[in-house]
This record gives sequence, structure tokens and C-alpha cells, in this order.
Amino acid sequence: MVARTSLISRRTAQKFRQAAISAAGSVKIKLLLFCCFLFTLTLLASRTPSFLGWGQQSVPLLDRTSSKGYTLLINTWKRYDLLKQSISHYTSCPRLDSIHIVWSEPDPPSDALVKYLNQAVKSNAGNNHYIELAFDINKEDSLNNRFKEIKNPRTDAVFSIDDDIIFSCKSVEFAFSVWQSAPDTMVGFVPRIHLINRSKENENSYIYGGWWPVWWTGTYSMILSKASFFHMKYLRLYTNEMPTSIMEYVKRNRNCEDIAMSFLVANATGAPPIWAKGKIYEIGSTGISSLGGHSDKRTECVNRFVSEFGKMPLVPTTVKAVDSRGTWFW
Ligand SMILES: *[C@@H]1O[C@H](CO)[C@@H](O)[C@H](O)[C@H]1NC(C)=O
Ligand SMILES: *[C@@H]1O[C@H](CO)[C@@H](O)[C@H](O)[C@H]1NC(C)=O
Repeated sequence: MVARTSLISRRTAQKFRQAAISAAGSVKIKLLLFCCFLFTLTLLASRTPSFLGWGQQSVPLLDRTSSKGYTLLINTWKRYDLLKQSISHYTSCPRLDSIHIVWSEPDPPSDALVKYLNQAVKSNAGNNHYIELAFDINKEDSLNNRFKEIKNPRTDAVFSIDDDIIFSCKSVEFAFSVWQSAPDTMVGFVPRIHLINRSKENENSYIYGGWWPVWWTGTYSMILSKASFFHMKYLRLYTNEMPTSIMEYVKRNRNCEDIAMSFLVANATGAPPIWAKGKIYEIGSTGISSLGGHSDKRTECVNRFVSEFGKMPLVPTTVKAVDSRGTWFW
């Protein structure tokens, strides 16, 4: 009887001890959480200049007033709401200098549309900031129109964009500053890759890879012109130096002008493009990339262009440019 009582009390004591240990454990977790909280506060505090005796120092501001901005080159086709939305958005971005709307519709832009866009540009640009707005009217409907040479351009930088996607001004500014560090290169938000077709004996067969292989391998070799910066000189090269067979192919198939541009730039530089991190907002959903059979056609383009160029000019890379203000650790 005595022995049993002591056994029970020993078990109870053990239970109590375990409870005490786990209570101590939860106290530790709370302490840890509290430490994390303090750490976060410290980090946030460190971002104010007075912390760590930074009262007398500050980072130089990026120069927003420099005359060297960029030209927005936007391709559009009978989607006036999207066009209005895009233009209204981008005119609020600080270093936008000029807007060229690539117009390939049979009818010229309506007076109402022109008036609306002019108004949007004026009201968003602010007082001491002039933004040029131009419609580049084309007689024939061809995807090559989107890379027609711009006569008397106001900037060296082109920001080429589709009318159905929008990037925040912060992302655009960031990509622009990456481009300024490498003005011969294409810099943009939508990376793609060319893969080697291993099932073929012939070594020069390639496959067009969409976002999935880029995500899986972290490797890319093209930046799509639906959202990218490049130098104004490439419009001149595309218009005047691109092999006519490629221009014809793009026009006939209504596809792959962006792959052709990637080939052109890669062939001129011998270097890969740069993928910049950015937030994308799709505002339309009728793009050709959502149609089936798209990938096969793109693969055909890549192989066709390789034979026209006489080599594969695209260079793969794994570099991704990110804004260091958005990353906590090195
Ligand atoms: C790879 O090449 C083979 C042989 O030409 C072809 O049948 C196959 O469709 C190619 N693969 C892709 C994904 O294009
Ligand atoms: C590719 O680059 C070479 C060497 O710079 C040049 O001679 C050739 O014209 C370029 N090809 C195209 C199609 O631009």
C-alpha cells in the first residue's frame, strides 16, 4: 500500500516536472518571439538616419529631374480602355519623357481618344514636366511596326510595353536604372529560355521554353519586349538591318517579333540580357500567349531565326537584378 502510494506520487511528481519543463519551453518560445520583435524594431529603427549617429549623413537622392528619361513605346490594338489605363498609369512615373503609341489599325485614332490621352498626360505629368505624346500611324498591319525606327527620338532609352500589362512606377524606375548601368543590353521583367532538343541527332535544334523551365532552372536567355528596356539604336537596327526573310516571317505568322528582337540584340552584344525583378499586373487576358499551340510556333521561330543568323546568338544567364532596399540580408 505504502509502496503504491509512493509510486503514484512519484508518477504525479514526474508529470508535474514535465508540465514545468513544457511551461519553461513555452516561456522560452515567448522570449524568442519577443527577441524577434525587438530585432525587427531595431532593424526598422536603423532605417531612420538618426540611428547609429547618422544624423549628419544621408543617401544621395536618385536624380529624378535629369533630362535623360525614357520613351514609352506601347503597342495597342483596338483596346482603348487598356490603352487609357496604361497611359494614365505610366504618366505618373517620374522619369517618363515621351510616349509613342504604335498604331496599326485601319482607322486613325478618334478625336475623343486623342483628347483623353492628352488630358491624362497633362494632368499627371505635373507643372514643370513636359511629356511628349505621339501616335506612330502605320499603313499596314504588321508586328514589325512595333519596332519601327523613331525619327528624332528624345531619349536613348526605350521602354517597350504591351497595353495589357502594367508595372508599378517603382519597378519601372528600378529596371530603368539597371538599364542605365548596361545600356547595350535588354533589361526587363519577362524572361524566357531556349532549350536544346536532345531527341534530335542534329545538334542545332532548339525548343522555346516559357516561364516554367525558367522558374525550374533559374536560367534564361531572352527578355520579352512586351516589358523591357533597350537602346533606341536597336529600333534602327531592327528596321534597317534585320534580314528581310525574318521580317517577312514575323509579318506572315503574326508572331515572334520579340524573339527576333532578342536575337538582334544578342547578336550585336554577344551578351545575355538582364532580368529585373518587378511586380506585374495583367489587366487584359486576350494575349496570343494564352492561346494553344503557341509554344510550338515559338519553337519554330527560334529554329528558323537560328538558320537565318547562321548561329544561335542567345546567351544563357542566371543573373537576376533585385532592388537592394527590398532585401534584408546580403
Ligand atoms: C525535338 O526534335 C524531334 C525530332 O525532330 C521532334 O519530333 C520533336 O517535336 C522536337 N521536340 C520539341 C519539343 O519540339
Ligand atoms: C550579327 O553580328 C555580326 C557581327 O557583329 C554582324 O556582321 C551581322 O550583320 C549581325 N547579323 C544581324 C542579322 O544583325
